Amino acid sequence: MDSYRLLRPLLFRLPPETSHQFTLRALSLAGRMHPLDQFLADAARGRLPQHPITVMGIPFPNPVGVAAGLDKHASAVDGLSALGFGFVELGTVTPLAQPGNPRPRLFRLSTINGVINRNGFNSVGLNQFLSNLACSRHTVRLGINIGKNAATPLEHAEQDYLTALRAVYGVADYIAVNISSPNTPGLRDLQGEDALDNLLGKLKDEQSRLSDNHGHYTPLAVKISPDMDQIDIDRIAESLARHELDAVIATNTTVSRPGVSAQVPQSIEQGGLSGEPLNEISSRVIARLASTLGSALPIIGVGGIMNAADAWEKFTAGASLIQLYTGLIYRGPRLLGDILTDIDRRMSSAQAGSLTELLGR
Ligand SMILES: Cc1cc2nc3c(=O)[nH]c(=O)nc-3n(C[C@H](O)[C@H](O)[C@H](O)COP(=O)(O)O)c2cc1C
Repeated sequence: MDSYRLLRPLLFRLPPETSHQFTLRALSLAGRMHPLDQFLADAARGRLPQHPITVMGIPFPNPVGVAAGLDKHASAVDGLSALGFGFVELGTVTPLAQPGNPRPRLFRLSTINGVINRNGFNSVGLNQFLSNLACSRHTVRLGINIGKNAATPLEHAEQDYLTALRAVYGVADYIAVNISSPNTPGLRDLQGEDALDNLLGKLKDEQSRLSDNHGHYTPLAVKISPDMDQIDIDRIAESLARHELDAVIATNTTVSRPGVSAQVPQSIEQGGLSGEPLNEISSRVIARLASTLGSALPIIGVGGIMNAADAWEKFTAGASLIQLYTGLIYRGPRLLGDILTDIDRRMSSAQAGSLTELLGR
């Protein structure tokens, strides 16, 4: 039975941020009830088709992950793991704790399956984040998404990223560098030509040092914005390839309001739009990246995946892994099962020996 269909009307009666906190707390509690969480994780893995895929050198049990922003503070890792996701991207975490923007800062656009947020990196900071993570058994593959503090001037942003990179290097399966949130003033300027080259050079140097010190290599992915023209997408792709980044995550939320009628309540709120209205733009960015990058680096596709067909579109556009956020708000964890079942069906009908073969990666 799809219990989320019963739960959703109750959650949607609460202010969005309250229902988000409630859901995370429930997941966090479920995750702490050992061995219940392990039982649920095993049940999910048994119930859901698992087609493994290796991306960035990491073997993932399935290609569907949780996008950044859902568990910013690493407080519900075991609960999310128990739902059967192939990986969870935690964060964005900033070096120091910061409150983010004043509330309200999260808005549902229910008639169009969208969300606008202007959270502005509310973060418990690296110390608390790492101690939360240490309390979890985290058997799931983990990405950790890092950002800069709002108070750090843009010209010193690299120091925040380097601090965060060093702190999470040993505990992440991969690290996502977020330079595309629309809610931290100036952050997207880091996608500009010189700023990006400088930042990527510093991060890769530090990654190489850390790799020697730790004795293992943790891949670095960069998360980009959907609000760019093709020239900028090509320039960024070329820069990521030249600096030998390990993956690109496309995309973050959009500041545009594509096809959103002014009649939609809340659509005039400032912030990044996610969900169904973002789907097409994000797929277009992925397709452009894929044609520019070829096989230089893999793409993690995210943005407006609300059903299995949307997920398949991201794969056909060029993604090797995908992530969900707003789709989970509207569809619940059943969305994951729908996508994995659809992949399973496609594997059988194409008689593909592996997901890599099916996706032609
Ligand atoms: C409430 C909310 C908070 C988010 N916070 C972050 C964040 O902290 N870091 C980040 O990289 N992306 C963040 N995102 C963006 C998502 O990770 C994702 O890129 C975007 O929402 C598009 O996917 P979706 O349409 O499936 O939600 C956030 C999205 C939402 C809705």
